Amino acid sequence: MASDLGLVREKVAAARSLAVLTGAGISADSGVPTFRGADGLWRNFRAEDLATPEAFDRDPRLVWEWYNWRRELIATKRPNPAHTAVVEFERRCAQFWLITQNVDGLHRSAGSTKLSEIHGNIWKVRCTVCGVIEDNHDVPIPILPFCRHCKGLLRPHIVWFGESLSGGDLARCSAALRSCDVLLVIGTSGIVYPAAGFASVAKESGAFVAEINPDATPHSGLVDVSLKGRAKEVVPLLL
Ligand code: APR
Repeated sequence: MASDLGLVREKVAAARSLAVLTGAGISADSGVPTFRGADGLWRNFRAEDLATPEAFDRDPRLVWEWYNWRRELIATKRPNPAHTAVVEFERRCAQFWLITQNVDGLHRSAGSTKLSEIHGNIWKVRCTVCGVIEDNHDVPIPILPFCRHCKGLLRPHIVWFGESLSGGDLARCSAALRSCDVLLVIGTSGIVYPAAGFASVAKESGAFVAEINPDATPHSGLVDVSLKGRAKEVVPLLL
């Protein structure tokens, strides 16, 4: 691990273009439950049962109750040293892009500015009628919440299973993955597409790819180095 760690640190220091992909594991160290970990269930529902347009059409109240629970939880959490280290990577590397699947906003709270929140942000709402997108930090949020412009039902501004990522985000991420010298993949199970395919895109484009995760993932076989450990302990060592 020590020599692997040194190698990744050297690659990061020498990178002219650096990309970082994060998942729920980086926020686990701030106390936010991961989706597929032991504490990822809410009232015995899995994310796949609730984070869908069909679930929202069927029972918007239930879906909003889940998001309200997550809002209450996330509102008490703060960025950890791994989030802070990612901000420092951005500061040090002229060409930097952060791709996060997390909707908790902790990267922004830490100070990251060059990022795509490809699955959206839990602190934004979108009107299902007029489409307006607004910041909303209500905790709790009234259930059900309605648009202050047209009175339409609001939904979380989150990309659910079965929905497409924004074209702009995909293009921005694709450009970063194809042009980076180094990609760090931190705390993602690597099973939800399209992000699950991002490490392969960078690898096929010639990047050095390192994974930081306490567990093996589908990425582990294709990356150059797998650093087994918790994000908050390993990522700051790469500075
Ligand atoms: N440090 C680093 N990684 C960790 C840590 C930690 N402290 N704790 C857990 N992990 C790893 C787990 O081993 C796992 O591989 O984080 C990963 C979390 O996986 P998921 O819960 O599947 O989260 P993620 O990969 O972000 O999920 C992708 O699925 O439900 C959807 O839209 C949701 O964005 C989410 C997407």
